[in-house]
Amino acid sequence: MSIIYGKRIRLRAVEREDVQKFHAWVNDPEVTRGLMLYLPMSMRDETDWFDGLAKRDPNQRPLAIEVHKGKAWKLIGNCGVFDIEMTNRSAELGIMIGDKAEWNKGYGSEAMTLLLRHGFETLNLNRIALRVYSENVRAVRSYEKAGFILEGRLRQAVYKHGTYDDVLLMSVLRSEWDSRNKEK
Ligand SMILES: CC(C)(COP(=O)(O)OP(=O)(O)OC[C@H]1O[C@@H](n2cnc3c(N)ncnc32)[C@H](O)[C@@H]1OP(=O)(O)O)[C@@H](O)C(=O)NCCC(=O)NCCS
Repeated sequence: MSIIYGKRIRLRAVEREDVQKFHAWVNDPEVTRGLMLYLPMSMRDETDWFDGLAKRDPNQRPLAIEVHKGKAWKLIGNCGVFDIEMTNRSAELGIMIGDKAEWNKGYGSEAMTLLLRHGFETLNLNRIALRVYSENVRAVRSYEKAGFILEGRLRQAVYKHGTYDDVLLMSVLRSEWDSRNKEK
């Protein structure tokens, strides 16, 4: 697979040099608030994670998100497709923009739109879903902008910061992707 280019960002393979930044981001409580991470992560945890990527299905390896800054590309996070079910032609998406200075600039919805395009038009999926904590309003809004539709709510499915939160299920179907792109 070659690099996936959008208007302002690109998705490329993760490199060992990225691990240092990922390590800082997965230890930032503001970043991990919306993620399924709750323990401090060591550099060893992070390098083990990186070493394990080579053994994963290439379609399910995370991708680094880079934003175009002048003539250079700046790493701001990662995202990816996982839990691909070929019989059902379905999969889930995940994303972390770890560089907080780059939040709320539309990069999250652009990355998810690129992953949707990749999922439908390259991997030939029929359904692409995600899970998000209901308190993560930035994420929910970002996913809505990318075309995700709320389809369900797992009540009090996660316990974080001393309280239960609902987990929202959102998805995009191939038919919705096709009609959205015909409209444009
Ligand atoms: C969630 C995440 C991917 C979103 O990416 P992003 O680039 O910051 O988001 P976008 O700019 O695409 O969209 C954010 C939207 O939420 C809105 N928003 C932000 N904070 C908000 C708040 N407190 N209440 C309501 N809306 C809010 C923004 O205004 C924007 O909407 P708009 O474009 O209509 O104005 C990114 O912030 C991130 O990775 N956060 C940390 C990890 C995480 O939570 N990952 C998701 C796990 S499911």
